[in-house]
Formats: sequence, structure tokens, C-alpha cells
Amino acid sequence: GGVSGSDGGGSGGGDDAITMGFSQVGAESGWRTANTKSVQESAAKAGITLKFSDAQQKQENQIKAIRSFIQQRVDVIAFSPVVESGWDTVLKEAQNAKIPVILTDRAVDSKDTSLYKSFLGSDFIEEGKKAGQWLVEEYKDATDTVNIVELQGTTGSAPANDRKEGFAQVIAAEPKFKVIASQTGDFTRAKGKEVMEAFLKSNPDIDVLYAHNDDMGLGAIEAIEGAGKVPGEDIKIITVDAVKDGMQALADGKINYIVECSPLLGPQLMDLAKKVVKGEQVPARVVTEETTFTQEQAKEVLSTRQY
Ligand code: AHR
Repeated sequence: GGVSGSDGGGSGGGDDAITMGFSQVGAESGWRTANTKSVQESAAKAGITLKFSDAQQKQENQIKAIRSFIQQRVDVIAFSPVVESGWDTVLKEAQNAKIPVILTDRAVDSKDTSLYKSFLGSDFIEEGKKAGQWLVEEYKDATDTVNIVELQGTTGSAPANDRKEGFAQVIAAEPKFKVIASQTGDFTRAKGKEVMEAFLKSNPDIDVLYAHNDDMGLGAIEAIEGAGKVPGEDIKIITVDAVKDGMQALADGKINYIVECSPLLGPQLMDLAKKVVKGEQVPARVVTEETTFTQEQAKEVLSTRQY
């Protein structure tokens, strides 16, 4: 059964043992792999028993996993919702079973915020704005139209919705910026490559690629090179995440700017979990701290990146 009112003090285990059910989005990107590792390692370190389930980017799989966690009467459920909408019913079931829920990484659009205790993750709108701000600065002296193509993340996901919105807000201030094509690449390298190939075929004059994550940007680089163009020069590239392969491409001059999104949410998630299981008050929103990287900065920090 559930643990309540126990004093967690110390290294966990014993009578205070907590079981967490964690429903992960999938394994779509380098970011996701690093996030999974962070959650698994932090659970082990905190003495929390982790029931881990990979939804392979499908909401129905996540709903099934959450129902199974409820049936198993875990102490706390944490999950990264693949899309924003459609969670009210299953979250209500968890609430009725008195199992606290923590959202990690991605948000839900449920009106009833009592359905979860806390939301830990990045400010994706801010990330989109940072991408737009770099572009505004980079093209401050340009008078010609700047043709932009956008590779969106998974349709309906919080990071795709918000990174698109934040970016659009910033570039809207200057009419020279034109998004000439915008499509989902599902946050994967393979899809990023495929969609970029199609963009290149139908648009001879692309100045900038804005990809919602590194992996799609890396796939797009292959497409750009395949079309005989030089990524980072003929087409400027902005991505989000700052995983190792992305940072390497940035240091190599193939990407021009990366907005960081930290996948290392495990330690904070375990702290929050211990608190909610004890019935302690936790902040409704915990925002991850993040930075941005230029090519020069990537060269400096590359060897010290953890993921
Ligand atoms: O939700 C975070 C996003 O999901 C990352 O930016 C992307 O790489 C991942 O697939």
C-alpha cells in the first residue's frame, strides 16, 4: 500500500521505501535517452524503486501504463506526456486512487490543476524566444527577406507547440522574416532528414532552418549536404537541446546556435517524489535552468558535456 507520514531521512529503503511508476515518452532522441538515464540513476541513488515504461511516442501506451501503475498501487506516478491534451480521465483515476502525480519535462493542458502535484521541466516558450532572438541579432543588418523553414517536434506535444509559439512571437516584430515551410519531424533524426529533403526540393531559396531539437537538425544536415549545400553557411541552423552530437556539430560549424534544454531532471524529480509521498507541500511549477551556446562556446564546453 501507500506510504504516508513516514520520515524519509537518510538514504531511503527499509520501511520508507517508495515505488514510483514512470511513463516515458519513448526513445526518440538523444535528449530522451539522457533523460531516461537521469531518471533511472537518480531513482537508484535515492533508494526509490522505479517501474519504468516506454510508450514509444503513443499516448494510448502511456494511458495503459498509468492505469497499470494505479492497479499496482505505486506510491507516486511520474510521467512525461507525449501530447498535451486528453489526460483528464486517467489523471482523475489516479486522483481517486489517492496516488499523487508529478509531470516531468512536458505539460498537460488540463484545466483542473489539482490533477497533479507539480510540473518539473523547461520553459519551452522561452526556448523558442531565445532561438528567435539569436536570429534577430544575426540578421540585424539584413534588408532582404530571410526565408526560414521549421522542423517541428511531435504534433500536439508541449515542446512543439511552445517552441513554435515563442519563436513566432519574436520574429513577428520584423516582417523580413518569413517562415516558408513548417512541418513535423517527430523529434527524430530520420524524419528530420526526410522532411528537410522535401523542403529543399520545393524551396530553392532557404536561408535558415529552425529545428525544434538537435536530432532533427542532425538529420537535416545530412539532407542539406546531400543536396550539395553547406550546413551552417548556405543554410544557417538553429536547434534546441544541446546533446553531445548537437554540440559537436555546433563546434564543427554545421549548426550555428543551440538553445539548451536540460534532460537531467532525475535528481529534482526524486526530491519532489519523496516530498509528495510524505504529504509535504511542493511548488506547483519547477522550471529547469538553461543556457544557450554559440559555436565558440560549444568548442569550450564540448569535452565536459555529460550527455
Ligand atoms: O520534451 C523534450 C523534447 O523531447 C526534447 O527537446 C526532444 O529532443 C525530445 O524528444
